[in-house]
Amino acid sequence: MSRSLRVNQGCIEQVKLALKRNGILSQRALAESAGLSLSTVSNFLTGKPVDHASFVELCQQLAIDCEEIAQLDVAGYSKTKSKLALTALTRITNKHQDWGEAIDVSVFYGRSKELATLGQWIATQRCRLVAILGMGGIGKTAIAAKVAAQVQHEFEYVIWRSLRNAPSLETLLGNLVVFVSEFQETATDMRRLIHHLRSKRCLLILDNMEAILEPGYTGQFRNGYQGYGQLLSVIGETAHSSCLILTSREKPSEIAATEGDKLPVRCLRLSGSLEAAMALLDIKGLVGTDAQKQQLCDHYGSNPLAVKIVATSIQELFDGEIKVFLQQNTFVFNGIRRLLDQQFERLSPLEKSIMYWLAINPEGTTIAKLESNMITVPRTKLLEALEGLRGRSLIEKATPTLLEKQSCCYTQQIMVREYVTELEWHTGEAIAL
Ligand SMILES: Nc1ncnc2c1ncn2[C@@H]1O[C@H](COP(=O)(O)OP(=O)(O)OP(=O)(O)O)[C@@H](O)[C@H]1O
Ligand SMILES: [Mg+2]
Repeated sequence: MSRSLRVNQGCIEQVKLALKRNGILSQRALAESAGLSLSTVSNFLTGKPVDHASFVELCQQLAIDCEEIAQLDVAGYSKTKSKLALTALTRITNKHQDWGEAIDVSVFYGRSKELATLGQWIATQRCRLVAILGMGGIGKTAIAAKVAAQVQHEFEYVIWRSLRNAPSLETLLGNLVVFVSEFQETATDMRRLIHHLRSKRCLLILDNMEAILEPGYTGQFRNGYQGYGQLLSVIGETAHSSCLILTSREKPSEIAATEGDKLPVRCLRLSGSLEAAMALLDIKGLVGTDAQKQQLCDHYGSNPLAVKIVATSIQELFDGEIKVFLQQNTFVFNGIRRLLDQQFERLSPLEKSIMYWLAINPEGTTIAKLESNMITVPRTKLLEALEGLRGRSLIEKATPTLLEKQSCCYTQQIMVREYVTELEWHTGEAIAL
């Protein structure tokens, strides 16, 4: 049975009225608030078929009952038959869901491009493993929850688990198998899980994978957790119809080995979202011009968590006046320092040294420059450390100058640079090479 839906021809006027009622003035505005492409919204509004998840999302945005206006896009289905089938479909798709500790994403801004990419990978291209990577607070959990909510109707089972408390693989497998076998099995082995992932379409979400990765060793699992690496390889490489979404501050090496633009294993590296950051400033009620708001967001790389933390401080210390806060010229404190501490502590000594080096060379550096200043370090170690820092989103690739056109130039985001500079100042740690 196809899972595409279309608006009944007789209900198109009702949908147009709902647009007005909800103050949605254009197709673009609806596309942005639903996190969907313009063409999906246009198809929806003109009664052409759209996928089930998008249909449900658009109905929610317009506050209309999906079953009232929907018609299954199956040839030969009458309105009544289609309504019955749709009710059954909704029941099936809602029955087997366990959202664990997933966060509420009713307040979610921007990221329409990233959501469209993820939706495409998961629903259309049927990727088996999708990793959402990025630094702390950038919005990995939020976007994973949002996209999972959008594609949930594509799957018979949805299960969300956080790895923050580092459950053993056995515990996790037991948990997943019990759920997808509808409490018929209690096996804790990988083969049973794969059997179920093959015979049903399941969506698994594993949040906070960095909790079981070894600090200082890029992408390797902690002692006792290496089985998780095997789980990722098996899910990525075995033929099945399910999907695992994982979020992590660091990229597991099994993903690095199997990902590819045309392969069923994909990675989305999240950077800041200006749209989300600006919207978060607005809901916190901060006062300032658009330019001041943008300056503030830029300073924190539009990291939603950093922006939320600083907005609270500005509210408390400066009555919400962004201008007064900017005049202080002090950007890294309290919650923001703690956020970066957690990530910095996990670095190897060489990675820390490169971070210090970049902090005092804000124009960025090429590998060749770094090599000539760290002559005692073998090139392979330097490359590994740079890859590790990139994998943790602590350094960025910058546009090289004309002279350095042939090689990559690495730099730090402003908030990270200020943090590292202050750290060096406080601890007296220096480049120990
Ligand atoms: N697009 C968004 N719209 C609104 N709020 C957002 C958005 N993205 C993130 N946030 C908020 O910012 C905060 C940090 O986001 P989130 O927890 O998803 O980050 P994370 O990358 O998962 O961080 P960590 O690495 O610590 O797990 C949360 O309070 C979240 O609700
Ligand atoms: Mg998270």
